[in-house]
Parts: sequence; C-alpha cells; structure tokens
Amino acid sequence: MLDGRFPLGSFMTRSTPFYYYDLSLLSRTLDTLLLESARNPDYKVHYAIKANFNPVILRKIARSGLGADCVSGGEINAALEAGFRPSEIFFAGVGKSDWEIRLALEKGIGRFNVESAAELEVISGIASGAGKVAPVSLRVNPDIGAHTHANITTGLAENKFGINYEQLDGVMRLAHSLPGIEYRGLHFHIGSQILDMMDFVALCNRINSLVERLQTAGMPVGDIDVGGGLGVSYEHPDELPVADFKSYFDTFRRHLRLPEGTVVHFEPGRSIVAQCGTLITRVLYVKQGTTRRFAIVDAGMTDLIRPALYKAFHRIQNLSSDGPEEVYDVVGPVCESSDVFLKGAVLNCCHRGDLIAIRSAGAYGESMASGYNCRPLPKAYFD
Ligand code: LLP
Repeated sequence: MLDGRFPLGSFMTRSTPFYYYDLSLLSRTLDTLLLESARNPDYKVHYAIKANFNPVILRKIARSGLGADCVSGGEINAALEAGFRPSEIFFAGVGKSDWEIRLALEKGIGRFNVESAAELEVISGIASGAGKVAPVSLRVNPDIGAHTHANITTGLAENKFGINYEQLDGVMRLAHSLPGIEYRGLHFHIGSQILDMMDFVALCNRINSLVERLQTAGMPVGDIDVGGGLGVSYEHPDELPVADFKSYFDTFRRHLRLPEGTVVHFEPGRSIVAQCGTLITRVLYVKQGTTRRFAIVDAGMTDLIRPALYKAFHRIQNLSSDGPEEVYDVVGPVCESSDVFLKGAVLNCCHRGDLIAIRSAGAYGESMASGYNCRPLPKAYFD
C-alpha cells in the first residue's frame, strides 16, 4: 500500500528501524482531550509518562498544560526537564525507593499515590526527617476486572496494586496521624486499553459507594484520582485516530457522584500518544518456510515488545508496494521465537528493502524498548 500519510521521501534516506511521530496528530489529540475535559472545571489531567517519555513528546504535552503521572525517580526527572510543573506531578508506584521519595520531596511534587501502610510509614519518616510534608493520596484496590488483557488489568484483588477495602479505613487513620504526611485523597486505576465504558461505570459506582460510606463514617475523602486506561483502536488507526475522549469524560460526568467541588484527576497515557507513533522498519528477507511465508524485518521485539508480551495486535502496512496482497508472518531478527509482530498479516507483496509501517506504536513502544541482543535503541523522527 502506498500511503500518502507518511513522508516517504524522507523515510527512504533514513536507516531503519525508527519511530516516526506525527506531531500534528498529537496536537489534535491534545486539543480534543483538553476540550472534553475542560467541560468540567474540576477535572485535572496528568499524562502517564510511562506510555512515552521521548523528550520531544513530553515537552509538547507539558506545553499543553497537562500535569504528569510518574512511576519512578527517572520519570520525575524527565517530567521536570520537559517543563511539567512540580505541583502537577503525581508519583505513583507500588515500590518507591528511598532515593525516589527524597527526590520527590526535594522537588516539591504534587502528590504521592501511596499503596500500603508500610510505604506510608517510610514516606512519613523521610519527610519528617527532612522537615517536609508529603501530600498523599491512598491507592485503593477496587477489585474490578476491566475487559482487557490479563497482564494489563490492575484493579483486581489478586493484583499487587493498591490497598484493599478491609485495610483502607486503618490506613486512612494512619495517614491522618503520621507526621510529615498530609492526607489529600483517594486514587484508583483499573487497567489499560479499556474500550467498554461500562468498565468505567463500574469504577464510578465503586467510588460512589466508598465515598458515601467514608463520609457517613465522618472521614472526608478529599479529591479522587480515577487513573488512566482509555483504549484506542489498534484495528482502525486511520478511521479512529483520536481516542473517544468525549464518551470517556461524559461517563465520569454522568456516573460519578461526589461532593460539590471535589477535584477529579485523570491519568491517561496510551490514549494521548498511541496513534501518533509508527514504527518504521525495512524488509530484510522474504523467506518461504514449509507452511508459512515470512517477512523478516529489521525491527524486533526490542523495539516494540507489545505483540510478543501481550499478543497485542498492531496494524502493519507495506509502504513501498502496491503489488498483489499476500500473507506473511512478520518477524524480527531477535533470537526468540516470540519475536513476531503479526502472524498471517495481509500485505502488498514484499521485497527486500520495502518500508513497513507498524501502526499505533506511540504508546508503550519506544518507552519499552530494550537493548537485548546488543541491539541499539530505536531512533525517533518527528513531523
Ligand atoms: N495510572 C496508573 C496508575 C497506571 O498504572 C497506568 C498504566 C496509567 C495511569 C496509564 O494507563 P493508560 O491510560 O496508558 O492505559 N505496557 C502495557 C500497558 C501498561 C499500563 C500500565 N499502567 C501495554 O503496552 O499495553
């Protein structure tokens, strides 16, 4: 397929593989997100940096005015360097190291999303020792299964994330009593690549009943962070290039029942950056096996691990050919049988040197790249 949406001329001269980012699509996505979230002045959006921390992408998102959701000291530093305001940076994660807690306190970040009583005590100790106060939200495990891949659901009781219901009241009391801790609210996150709005309705219902119970018990809940999770269309990246932010925010507007003036935080990652990124690779060899035909490309699972790790689907296109369609297993050069991008891909007839686009790769693509097999990390270009 010869595709007008990519600057093929400039691709020809570049060495592959590389990530290509369409910054105008990122702008359109951010505009839509901001328009839909701003309908409610109490909604605050923090971009989940783990989805893509390329500095160019981060700077653009920081300039749009979003906050950041970070899960490591490295991500906090990346967010600060990109220009996110410290007070808008939230620090989540089930295993925060002492140096990361110190860094977050020193930089004056806006929130620690705390996942256990043990962590709360450590933060209290470090903060009071440094004469600081840590603003804290407690991450609740809502025990809700999102209809998504098992490896990316996070809100089930069996998952390592969050504080369970039985312990919550005790940990809240602890948060109010410990020195160096300022209790600010509750945090939730049920999973990722969620397309069924009923999953978010279930989250809203859980939050409503919890808030009501805590308030009746005389425990004000503070603000609410509903996490991230909105999915994108991996099947139809051209038809649906911008995630359905309208349905997403409307769902929370319709179903969350919170005291007047409660601030609600959102932490989308994938829905902001997935569609603006494409992994561009070249066909090295076409090989006919006993039963299957392989298109062996120069990108591998080290550049985009989602298909190998989650059996995730990414649409693949041959940008150099409009020859007859054929069926290929698109595979990489890494010495692992799981180094497969797609089995049974229907592509215009492939030849050595053809440019191949692996679509919707802007989220959890470059950010999850590794140097396995001593492979260089993928480069990135912007347009
Ligand atoms: N907030 C928290 C607490 C999270 O754990 C995550 C993602 C997000 C926000 C952002 O979620 P998003 O809006 O991107 O769905 N590597 C996997 C996805 C892992 C998501 C981890 N947590 C993948 O490639 O599908």
